[in-house]
Order: sequence, then structure tokens, then C-alpha cells
Amino acid sequence: MDIRVFDGKKKLASFAADLFSEVIKNNARPVLGLATGASPIDTYKELIKRFNAGELSFKNVTTFNLDEYCGLPKNDKNSYYTFMMENLFDHVDIDLKNVNIPDGNAEDPEAYAKEYEEKIKAAGGIDIQLLGIGVNGHIGFNEPTDRFSEGTHVVKLTDSTIEANSRYFTDSEMPRYAVTMGVGSIMAAKKIVLIATGRAKAQAVFETVKGEVTPSCPASILQTHKDAILLLDKAAASLLK
Ligand code: F6R
Repeated sequence: MDIRVFDGKKKLASFAADLFSEVIKNNARPVLGLATGASPIDTYKELIKRFNAGELSFKNVTTFNLDEYCGLPKNDKNSYYTFMMENLFDHVDIDLKNVNIPDGNAEDPEAYAKEYEEKIKAAGGIDIQLLGIGVNGHIGFNEPTDRFSEGTHVVKLTDSTIEANSRYFTDSEMPRYAVTMGVGSIMAAKKIVLIATGRAKAQAVFETVKGEVTPSCPASILQTHKDAILLLDKAAASLLK
């Protein structure tokens, strides 16, 4: 695992945007795996800046998002669909036909999850996957458990994740279930970029890097990926050494 520690979020985001720009420029049909949450926001801002400067086009880009809450209307202010439109897709030249965000309201969630997985494969697999990390070590919504998940599936969120994310649900109750790409789907990406900032992530980062590879810290599996890079600020890296 390659680990880089940055002096400030802006430098980190600029480095992450470099990695994504390289894949976008060097592939005829680039496939990006994307995340929501606080961690990727500055990277998306940086990519938008480069698009506005005429340095980058998303015309040929296909995207797959990691996850979505179950039971929220697609346009709810807390849906990951809304997040992605507001933080990236509304601001670049991507063809929305090539944007894939799991549907948290599928009639048959199991069949839908299979279809999502097939779609990733049909697109040629993910060239570069962006990840954040939960305070409990989750990636996507793959929560700590006793075995690594494989493909896209429905999960029950843990109390720790509900506690971390319920701050966004100021006037409605936070969903208890989500649909997420599995650890197997994430590990199939050719390159993985995980962003972690802030002291609250330090323990999870420590376990990811120095701990054993175990499903009780899902991110620890990145130790076994041949091209995974962790981009950290000093606070998130504070327990390493
Ligand atoms: C979001 C996702 C989650 C977040 C993680 C960290 O699509 O998959 O795993 O990356 O919960 O969230 P933030 O960045 O808000 O701290």
C-alpha cells in the first residue's frame, strides 16, 4: 500500500485529482468508481476546476457510485444521487446515461444488485476507485463483520455509521439499510485511492495499515491490493509511525 501524508486538504485533493485526471486522459473510455461523503468533496471541486479551465473532459467517462441509502426518494436532499449531482455531475460535461448510482428503491434489491455488478463488468471494470473510510473501518457501506463481502448487496447499517451520518438527517430519520458495492467489487478496481482526513479517522487508518487483514476492519483488505494508495492528512495519519 502506498501512503502519502499531506499538509492540508487542498494539497491532498489536488494530488487525488491528478490521479483521476491521468486515468481520464489516458483511457478512451475511462471508468471511475466514486464515493460520497465529506472526504471526496475537495477532490470533486478540483476536478470541476480543471474542467472549467478546459483541461479535462468527462464526455467519455462512465461512473459507478459505491452506494446509496435504501428507501429514500432519489431526489431527497440526503440521497447520494443528489449529492453526486450537486457536487460533481451538474458541473461537468458527463453524459448522464453513463452515470450509475445504485438504486435504493429497487423492487427486487437482490436482482438489482446482480445487475449493477454485471453493468460494472460490461463497462470493462473500474479503472480507478475513490474511497472514504468510516470511523469503524468501513469502505462503501461494507461494515465490520466476520467475512468480506463479494459483489453489490443490501446491508443493515451499524450503530456507529448511523451515529456518524445522522447529522445530515436534520428533518427526517436516517435510513437503516443501504445498497453497496461489495468488498470484492471494490478490490476488482485496477487502482484504489482512499482519502482520510481528521483525527476521528486515525484509529481506522492505523488498523487499515498496521492491523491484520480482517473483515472486522474492511479497509484492511487494501493491504492486499496491488495498486492501492492512501491519501491522508496529518491528523488521520497521527497514529502511524
Ligand atoms: C460513501 C461511502 C462511505 C464514506 C465513509 C466516510 O459513498 O462509501 O464509506 O466514504 O463513510 O464518510 P466521510 O467522508 O463523510 O467521513
